[in-house]
Amino acid sequence: EGEPALEHQRWSFDGFFGTIDQAAAQRGFQVYHDVCAACHSLSLVAYRNLSDIGISEDQIKTIAAQYNVTDGPNDNGDMFERPARPSDKFVPPFANANAARAANNGALPPDLSLIVKARKGGPDYVYGILTGFGEPPAGVTVADGMHYNAVFPGHQIAMPPPLSDGAVTYADGTEASVHQMAHDVTTFLEWASEPELDERKKMGVKVILFLIALTGFAYAVKRKVWAEVH
Ligand code: HEM
Repeated sequence: EGEPALEHQRWSFDGFFGTIDQAAAQRGFQVYHDVCAACHSLSLVAYRNLSDIGISEDQIKTIAAQYNVTDGPNDNGDMFERPARPSDKFVPPFANANAARAANNGALPPDLSLIVKARKGGPDYVYGILTGFGEPPAGVTVADGMHYNAVFPGHQIAMPPPLSDGAVTYADGTEASVHQMAHDVTTFLEWASEPELDERKKMGVKVILFLIALTGFAYAVKRKVWAEVH
């Protein structure tokens, strides 16, 4: 039972000049919000961070207000519930790990903030998990409450297949195939794992252009300064 080979997918963020495809990341947020968020937290991201992927301030306020957070203590020393604000971190689906396990047959759905960085294969692994469900090969039995997955180490995963064709209705009209949703939510999770990626790559390009210009300038000055010397 070796490591299953991961199929490499094409990602907008591949390579030196790659960036997050904003339309894909927005669709991916929709998949996370409508499907994954029922079980998985995304604790390192705040609602206002969604402006990075082109979601408007008004939309962000509306999204945050769908959740309640515990705040306080107030002047009476009491904790209280209030609707989440854009500055709050994504509200988790469960109060704690015990509650999360109780709802998932004893298995803990991991926080997805860094999942793309934490697993070998990165985005290809996350995409592979989401598209890797199916019937076990002949002779392989799957334990009760587990599901066959070609990519998950050991091939038995406690997560039920989360995606099926049409599981979400995309705001931009894109057809919501399993492949499309898996690809989009992986792009969203890539952004979540490294929100400053686009900025960093753009800055890198600016630095290189600056260094090229500086080299040319230094060469021109050198030619001029030494022009009379033979
Ligand atoms: C595990 C992603 C939806 C419950 C995982 C893993 C990934 C993932 C990548 C494997 C983590 C690892 O390597 O350890 C997603 C995404 C979802 C989604 C992107 C939405 C499209 C759900 C839903 C549920 C769920 C809706 C609950 C009904 C779990 C559980 C595990 C898990 C319990 C742990 C599995 C185990 O350790 O055997 N998820 N998930 N997930 N997920 Fe999900």
